[in-house]
Amino acid sequence: MKVNGTPTRAIWRIAAQTVVEIIDQTALPHHYRTLQLASLEDAAHAIRSMQVRGAPLIGATAAYGVALALLRDAGDAALAKAIATLGATRPTAVNLHWALARMQAHLRPLVPAERCAAAWQEAAAIADEDVLQNRAIGEHGLALLRPLAEKRGRLDIMTHCNAGWLATVDHGTALSPVYAAFDAGIEVRVWVSETRPRNQGLLTAWELQQHGVPHTVIADNAAGLLLARGEVDAVIVGADRIAANGDVANKVGTYLKALAAKEAGVPFYVAAPRSTLDFACPSGDTIPIEERAGDELRVLHGCGGDGKPATLRQLAADEAVANPAFDVTPARFVTAIVTERGHCPPDALHCLYPEEAR
Ligand code: MRU
Repeated sequence: MKVNGTPTRAIWRIAAQTVVEIIDQTALPHHYRTLQLASLEDAAHAIRSMQVRGAPLIGATAAYGVALALLRDAGDAALAKAIATLGATRPTAVNLHWALARMQAHLRPLVPAERCAAAWQEAAAIADEDVLQNRAIGEHGLALLRPLAEKRGRLDIMTHCNAGWLATVDHGTALSPVYAAFDAGIEVRVWVSETRPRNQGLLTAWELQQHGVPHTVIADNAAGLLLARGEVDAVIVGADRIAANGDVANKVGTYLKALAAKEAGVPFYVAAPRSTLDFACPSGDTIPIEERAGDELRVLHGCGGDGKPATLRQLAADEAVANPAFDVTPARFVTAIVTERGHCPPDALHCLYPEEAR
């Protein structure tokens, strides 16, 4: 997608160099800046601190993190350490473990002298595949949205968090069908849920604005009202992990939107690539839910009147807070899951992936 008119991915290797560049998502939407990752530690820090975030992008960054680690030492112990370090950065998005398992399976059989080049190639393959898969999600999602748009002559979509191109290598998951609809000439408006406490909705607003897609930011708590009033044609969200039974872990607050959508009779779609599907996980009950630092609630980040980054404490340091970063939406609230292979009811993922049927 484009930043100020220039085609840009959320992560890329600097041509012919052993350095990776990312967009620093902690600075958006106020400042657009890029950062260079040159080591395993840089990559792990970028994921942990959410300079990069979003399940597919976390996976791609981890893959590049392995390549960066092997520059220093490509032996068995260093490979194992890189996989363990990156694997411990964030617990919920299964794309992280999927990417690391793929890197390990590819690299472990090679002699150390061959591993470095192979790691860069495999990381690039993971990134490129993510782009193609998300584009396909856009086409399959558009097939679901088109009839809704034809009925009303326009399309009002609600989303949560940021599952756009910033959360992937490119195109996004939940926003890919939205971009496809907009590019196909459908009149689209997106209700963008702010997504406290990290405000990933502001990233969604930023990237929609970059592409010219009309959107309106709402407080998370306004979603139920808009759904009940009939002001939403469909809800589309991404996912951090989808269990084999179709239960969906995604940014905290997703579950409430699914409940309200069900009550209002509004379709609730989940868009995700294969790397987000965890066929080894039978149901949402066993998905680990990340608990993040309490200061994410206690301290607000934004910019001051001078346009410079600023923070504002809204709660005392000793105020007790809970900060679960994700929740699980049971499959019964999901109308369909959209992947690069098409769409299906949540309990029929094995039809799209027959090779995973047990
Ligand atoms: O904590 P984050 O910002 O990494 O959480 C991101 C989400 O929950 C996204 O909805 C999900 O990863 C899908 S991204 C295509």
